[in-house]
Amino acid sequence: MKDRTKGFMLEEEFQAYKDRLRKGLLKYTRKAFRMLPEMSTPRILDVGCGSGVPTVELAKLSDGEIIAIDTDQTALDRLANKIEKAGLAARVKAENCSILKMDFPDASFDIIWSEGSIFVVGFEKGLREWRRFLKTGGFLVVHDELGDLTEKQKTISQCGYELTDYFILSEDIWWSQYFLPLDKKLHEIRAKHACDGNTAAEMDNDQREIDGFKENVERYRSVYFIMKKDEKIISVQGGKMRNYTNGGTLKCQYEA
Ligand SMILES: C[S@@+](CC[C@H](N)C(=O)[O-])C[C@H]1O[C@@H](n2cnc3c(N)ncnc32)[C@H](O)[C@@H]1O
Repeated sequence: MKDRTKGFMLEEEFQAYKDRLRKGLLKYTRKAFRMLPEMSTPRILDVGCGSGVPTVELAKLSDGEIIAIDTDQTALDRLANKIEKAGLAARVKAENCSILKMDFPDASFDIIWSEGSIFVVGFEKGLREWRRFLKTGGFLVVHDELGDLTEKQKTISQCGYELTDYFILSEDIWWSQYFLPLDKKLHEIRAKHACDGNTAAEMDNDQREIDGFKENVERYRSVYFIMKKDEKIISVQGGKMRNYTNGGTLKCQYEA
């Protein structure tokens, strides 16, 4: 019993620390949100919300209604707690639903928000499949690994969106604001406690990600895309487009 209590407290301490790190990156969520046009009480779908640090921020920023989905029930329970504590229960719902089985009616949302989750379905497939859930004039905001920017820009217009804005986060941001402090915390916890169970497994996962970062820093440049559903496109089924024109050029902002 005593050990179980200790394990629970350790898990709580670790999760609270990770939430704190995630909160440090909310300035980028806010920056992306400010790139959207003003909308009064938008309906938002937060795809792959995790424990919902950005979800709660989006609720505060938008005054809108949010459905947040994930398949990790422990993370969803943590989010449900935050929703309750913040008095957001009337506007924010956390649902156990897979990104791979999303089945909302067409034109359900003003904004679809995906931070660190589109990789589950793939960038192009996600863009194609989620488009129908957006209302006319709706926006898709995706935070993803940078990869090949030119290729991704092409994919965005081919999938029926106008890229209205974007900005890049350098690998230095990820290192100094996330992986380095997390690395230190893992060492600190391991020096103080014998870890087992879920916390140990999650710590091992995090350690693998930190090691992966050190081996391939370039993979950890990331990008926020702000994409507007392009109404000039009638259909993007089967990769074919009709009635499409693309004007305008964009200058990239770079956060180092
Ligand atoms: C990197 S985390 C991002 C969490 C949150 N969006 C954030 O930015 O803090 C990726 C999330 O995707 C979720 N995920 C992975 N596969 C999923 C699936 N098939 N359906 C729904 N969520 C999934 C994970 O559980 C995890 O919470």
